[in-house]
Amino acid sequence: MVLNQLEELASKASEDLGKINDSKDLEAWRVRFLGRKSSLTQILRLLASLPLEERRAVGARANEIKLTLETRLEEKKRELEVGSVVSVGLKSLDVTLPGKPLNIGRMHLTTQILEEICDILGGMGFQVAEGPDVEWDYYNFEALNMPTDHPARDMFATLWIDYEKEGDIRPMLLRTHTSPVQIRVMEKSKPPIRIIAPGRVYRYEATDATHEWMFHQVEGLAVDKNITMADLKGTLFEFARCLFGKDRKCRFRCDYFPFVEPGVEVAIDCFECGGTGCRLCGNSGWIEILGAGMVHPEVLRRVNIDPDVYSGFAFGIGVERIPLLRYGIDDIRLFYANDLRFLSQF
Ligand code: PHE
Repeated sequence: MVLNQLEELASKASEDLGKINDSKDLEAWRVRFLGRKSSLTQILRLLASLPLEERRAVGARANEIKLTLETRLEEKKRELEVGSVVSVGLKSLDVTLPGKPLNIGRMHLTTQILEEICDILGGMGFQVAEGPDVEWDYYNFEALNMPTDHPARDMFATLWIDYEKEGDIRPMLLRTHTSPVQIRVMEKSKPPIRIIAPGRVYRYEATDATHEWMFHQVEGLAVDKNITMADLKGTLFEFARCLFGKDRKCRFRCDYFPFVEPGVEVAIDCFECGGTGCRLCGNSGWIEILGAGMVHPEVLRRVNIDPDVYSGFAFGIGVERIPLLRYGIDDIRLFYANDLRFLSQF
């Protein structure tokens, strides 16, 4: 009799369990079938009053059912924890569906171009050097032939940080270009020198579509005996061809930077219009990509390199300009706005 009751109980319990979809119902089920007042517990409690034969059979079966129900309770609990979506989905899981795409990280566009530039110049024998972003006035201006009050300082809208030590204020700034690395390298090493210095530079500028207060440059410097303008030209023409394609034309024009003499501005023929003039090149047919020149003798003298024995060339490339032109990006602010919809396109 009791055995029959037990079997009925077991099948009722598992039938009910199958219908349960949330933890509240599951708790009610536990109280009903495994709780202190449940029939199962009562049967177990009454075991002692049964005749020996029956007690053994009923006891074994009741404990077995109890164990099974407890195990299934735990299983169900876990299933509900994983989430109803999965537990419902399990019944109709289509294993042939494509998985969810994972977001894969990538190099920032600027990093990609920086690496490309360093690869090209590294292949020509230039070694990478570094300097600090927070720089002394001396390295950013003074040693580059721009003493205090030199009008050329106006070319560089500067973010100043005054450094005070024992009442003494020393002018400090966020470097406005990577040229101070030239000085730092020449102070430490003797010619032959061939370095490039990639890095961030800062200008005190209102941002708009073509100006950012922080951008990147790659500086180049070569100092040795008999370095001439022809070396500079050869190096930069080759660089432009590697970066923009071998059919690009390069233009050298006079420009002024206090730390080079003569100074040049390098432009490539506009790849949008092929030189006939368009919006991208401001109707000139040419796009400026860098400033360069022969290292000024005064700059060499300051770092104890004899300008009568040695000569050198230097150049500074504006990094963001390159992808701006290459991909037709019309707003430089997109670079550092951290919008993945923009960044993940590259
Ligand atoms: N430092 C200059 C600038 O930021 C570029 C430059 C570098 C020009 C080296 C000449 C030589 O405008």
